[in-house]
Amino acid sequence: MEIYSDYLVIGSGVAGLIFSIKASKYGKVSIITKKSKSDANTNYAQGGIATVFDEHDSFEMHIKDTLRTGCELSHEDIVNMVIRNGPRVVQELLSYGVRFTEENGKLELGREGGHSKNRIVHAKDLTGFEIEQKLLEKIRNNPNIDMIENQMALDLILNDGGRCIGVKSLDRENYTINHYIAKFVLLATGGASRIYKFTTNPVIATGDGIAMAYLAGASVGNMEFVQFHPTSLYEKVQIEEKSFLISEAVRGAGAVLKTPDGVEFMDKYHELKSLAPRDIVARAIDNETKKHGYGYVYLDLSSMPEEKIKRKFPNILDACVKRGIYPPKDMIPVIPAAHYFCGGVKTDQLGLTDIEGLYAAGEVAFTGLHGANRLASNSLLEALVFSENAFKDTLDKLDIKVKFNYNREEEKKLNFIDIDFFDGDRNKIRSTMWDFVGIVRNDNRLKIARDIIENLNEKIEKMIEKGKFSSTLFEMRNMGIVASLVIESSLIRKESRGLNYNEDYPEEKDEFKHDTILKRRIT
Ligand code: FAD
Ligand code: SIN
Repeated sequence: MEIYSDYLVIGSGVAGLIFSIKASKYGKVSIITKKSKSDANTNYAQGGIATVFDEHDSFEMHIKDTLRTGCELSHEDIVNMVIRNGPRVVQELLSYGVRFTEENGKLELGREGGHSKNRIVHAKDLTGFEIEQKLLEKIRNNPNIDMIENQMALDLILNDGGRCIGVKSLDRENYTINHYIAKFVLLATGGASRIYKFTTNPVIATGDGIAMAYLAGASVGNMEFVQFHPTSLYEKVQIEEKSFLISEAVRGAGAVLKTPDGVEFMDKYHELKSLAPRDIVARAIDNETKKHGYGYVYLDLSSMPEEKIKRKFPNILDACVKRGIYPPKDMIPVIPAAHYFCGGVKTDQLGLTDIEGLYAAGEVAFTGLHGANRLASNSLLEALVFSENAFKDTLDKLDIKVKFNYNREEEKKLNFIDIDFFDGDRNKIRSTMWDFVGIVRNDNRLKIARDIIENLNEKIEKMIEKGKFSSTLFEMRNMGIVASLVIESSLIRKESRGLNYNEDYPEEKDEFKHDTILKRRIT
């Protein structure tokens, strides 16, 4: 089936929804999303949105914190642009009905690692849920927006001139192939942390957008910079499909990290101690656990009154209680987990990729904001600003016409396969990345990982070449491609900077003070 609209949005997290709300005033919008509409990383964001509201804070300070955390790889023009737009885009969310926590009639501002001021706007510890739900409500009765669930984008469609005009997708309920065609396509497919065995991300985060764009010839950038959140809840047996996050805001409110024998250790690693930037805290925990053979470290909330924990972190309290931990009394066992992709599909200031007609916003994109390490709570902000920029860029191009030549013969060759047996391969990717391409890397381990992933990629490619398809098979393809991009980028960067720590090259080197850009040669 062919479905035409003016705007095609792939993904229903914050980036896709904000873009759609704006675009729907100018044309028909189709949003396709691979599971149900609120299955998105956005829904799980806890800490909040970093932006300048406090009279003692300033754009300059937020910019300085972002640049310092990015270890000289953030693009200063982008940092300036995003941060100066922060208060306005947060006000816009308020106008859409999003309710952030207030104190004495003002927004309550939390603190997270790497920030020199309290500047995190939040809805208790359920910020993402509040945003996602209110944005979904806002689009619910919009006659110009069609939300199509269980629709997995498989491959981008480019016309003969190389313009992206849509996507081939799989209807996961009927196992049919659809072609969504539009004047403008927004990739808002989120991140890829599911390529790691332990991650805070829900199952949708398999890097589909990055893989699709790369296959279509777009540049991708800085894939080596995978952010591991220092404090996911440690569980002997995980009771959910992902690691539960213990927000950095908990440390911002006074909790401290301790080794299992009850000793604080972060003072050995950074002057900001438990509130140092994430790369430093995650590496410190990795070092302590490996050096002493601990399975985890602890987060001690005992300096916080019980009432404060209940009021500020009800969701975290609830998750801990479910697992038999009562944080006002018990320390919380924590361990790092893959959390966020700083790299992704390269865009300019307007969110435009180097494929005409294709925009990217949110976690799928590499915009230059985060550099070698993301400052906490800067990603929702980035998604809000770039989805708006992308939408604005379409406005003077609305009279574009696109034509699609549907090849029915090609579709007849497709052969749906039910391949649950591929779960072994999926686990192999995830454990290879965890064991060999984790927080601390070296060239030898990276090369071992490259061989394992290349073998798997070849096997998957052969199946796809034979016309086989299923959502699992394509997710596996995408995870394998993203894993290769992370490995290749890490092997290119022969230094340690921000989130890329390689023990063969433990120093930062001036010759690597640039982005790692990869582009597929299309013959
Ligand atoms: P997502 O919200 O992940 O949405 C992606 C969408 O694309 C989903 O709807 C998905 O189903 C869809 N999709 C994916 N592939 C396909 C496909 N092939 N076909 C169709 N649809 C597809 N950031 C902050 O700034 N502050 C925080 O406090 C914060 N806390 C976080 C806590 C957790 C536990 C996690 C996991 C992340 C957190 N982050 C936080 C990061 C932030 O939530 C994400 O970077 C951001 O929400 C990404 O938004 P997005 O719209 O780009 O992608
Ligand atoms: C957190 O609440 O610790 C997550 C914040 C983020 O990822 O930006």
